[in-house]
Amino acid sequence: FLPQEFIVKKRDKQALTIDEIQQFVQGITDGSVADSQISAFAMAVFFNDLTLDENVGLTMAMRDSGRRMRWDDLQLPGPVLDKHSTGGVGDVVSLMLGPMIAACGGFVPMISGRGLGHTGGTLDKLSAIPGYDPFPTADNFRRIVKEVGVSIIGQTNDLAPADRRFYATRDVTGTVESIALITASILSKKLAAGLDVLVMDVKTGSGAFMPTFELSKALAERIVRVGNGAGVKTSALVTDMNQSLATCAGNAIETAEAVRYLTGEVRSDRLHEVTMALCAEMLIAGGLASDTADAEARLQQALDSGRAAEIFGRMVATMGGPSDFIEHYGKYFEPAPLVRPVFAPQAGFVTGTDTRGLGMAVCALGGGRRQAADVLDYRVGLTELVELGQKVDSQTPLAVVHAATEDGFEEARRRVLQAVGIGAAPVARPTQVHCILR
Ligand code: URA
Repeated sequence: FLPQEFIVKKRDKQALTIDEIQQFVQGITDGSVADSQISAFAMAVFFNDLTLDENVGLTMAMRDSGRRMRWDDLQLPGPVLDKHSTGGVGDVVSLMLGPMIAACGGFVPMISGRGLGHTGGTLDKLSAIPGYDPFPTADNFRRIVKEVGVSIIGQTNDLAPADRRFYATRDVTGTVESIALITASILSKKLAAGLDVLVMDVKTGSGAFMPTFELSKALAERIVRVGNGAGVKTSALVTDMNQSLATCAGNAIETAEAVRYLTGEVRSDRLHEVTMALCAEMLIAGGLASDTADAEARLQQALDSGRAAEIFGRMVATMGGPSDFIEHYGKYFEPAPLVRPVFAPQAGFVTGTDTRGLGMAVCALGGGRRQAADVLDYRVGLTELVELGQKVDSQTPLAVVHAATEDGFEEARRRVLQAVGIGAAPVARPTQVHCILR
């Protein structure tokens, strides 16, 4: 097998065989394929795409490049389900969704990521909880999923190792934005977790990774086809990321919001709508609910009974966090030294938000990474974010900034003012769930 011949084939738009794809991925994993060859292949795929069969083959080969989890030996009394989001700002859904699904009889082994660019990461939000250890042993992870119903952890090196090398090469060769490669990258990691059902949340809008609705939808369609082709029941919701999903963004800030959501203290409309839609899709796909109305009733019951909150609390405690986190989360989160509003510069209506810009404001405060090795400040972020269509005047905060320093505040203030557009005429609120693909 010569990698250069494989690359030439894709360059010349010829079909790749599954066997060739497997050998190439094997070479990525064992180091026998060079970085230059990975990048040439990635660029050939960027321009010439993959057929569905090739995309399924690549995904499965990457999935099999490391350890594959299995759950059948545990004889769980319910399906193994997960959700994955392409990333956004104020997207704290996973923290609520996992316990809500567990409360409805599902089992959720969620392997989450760190923040990437302007987007937040579930792993960073949970790491804000003192003592929470997102890297349990594989046996402990399985035990927690079985006993609690949900465990949210970080990605370990033995899961889809081919993707790590492939992604690192794409990242520095202008080949991240290929629908075929994004699909294989995301699904290889999710499929290695041994799921029965995967629901994807593909974001669209100014804070999404995909720049247009058409591309978001195309990515969602590809993920659904490849996921199902690889043997996991997969569906996708395209949801709105033209503003922060929660009315706040930041690590500890969002984790506190998740607790308030679960206990019913505060449940903001947009966050609730998207969380319920994703959860309902999971319950239906997993055979735990007959239709949307049935699913919503079960989820509401999981919230109202306090069961979902209790499960979140148990997960946190089992993973090394405080045993009274749900009741006393406030005492575990140190406030930022400086908490100060940024007022609207003029009266009018919020006509648009550069959501990426808001995410970058959180990064600039120290809540996201500029470089992989950066240490996060969990305290910082934005709260009381204005919503699209909201009427504002010079007394209305566009956001309240939680900063570590005066300089941090000034930088965030500048970015918030730049990110929030104010006009004279009201605009319609965007739909939250644009479409569901199955
Ligand atoms: N996230 C991933 O995990 N992989 C990609 O290729 C893009 C986003």
